[in-house]
Amino acid sequence: MLKDKYADRIEKIFAKYADKRSAVMSLLYLAQEEYGYVTEDACAEIAALIGTDPTQVRSIAGFYTMFREEPKGRYWLQVCTDLPCALRGADKFYEELLQELGIEDGGTTPDGMFTVEHVMCLAACDRAPMLQCNFHYHEHLDMDTMRALIAQWRAEAGVLAEAAAVGDAPAE
Ligand code: FES
Repeated sequence: MLKDKYADRIEKIFAKYADKRSAVMSLLYLAQEEYGYVTEDACAEIAALIGTDPTQVRSIAGFYTMFREEPKGRYWLQVCTDLPCALRGADKFYEELLQELGIEDGGTTPDGMFTVEHVMCLAACDRAPMLQCNFHYHEHLDMDTMRALIAQWRAEAGVLAEAAAVGDAPAE
């Protein structure tokens, strides 16, 4: 339960707002961090914390694209293929990335490492091709830099898995 595991964090979040209901976005981020996506149970937990209905929490989570409504890969890659980026080669880059990972649009690699989807403008049009990975931007990409990033993320995940196995996981 979020309220047991993150009591201090939740208290700090509530301290920022005059009304607990205003903390819903921060709590949705916390839930997503904990569970990997915004589960139905998480919506119920948040609703109980802020004194509202789970349906209201679900509707807020559903409105914003940064909240996941289903499990995704450890690295959630959102590639902008909107027109300005497409004019700078984002469409081709996106197709090549899907091919590189052997998945379809919106798919997740079988090892659960990467989910790739295309999105509309991320406000970095002059730096395309670009993508957002777990809310961090990567810009001026080509397939060489992309392959290096994929290798880096795979290595990071391996280090984290090893650390977790010995009970000493570093913060991501
Ligand atoms: S159109 Fe791609 S970031 Fe704006």
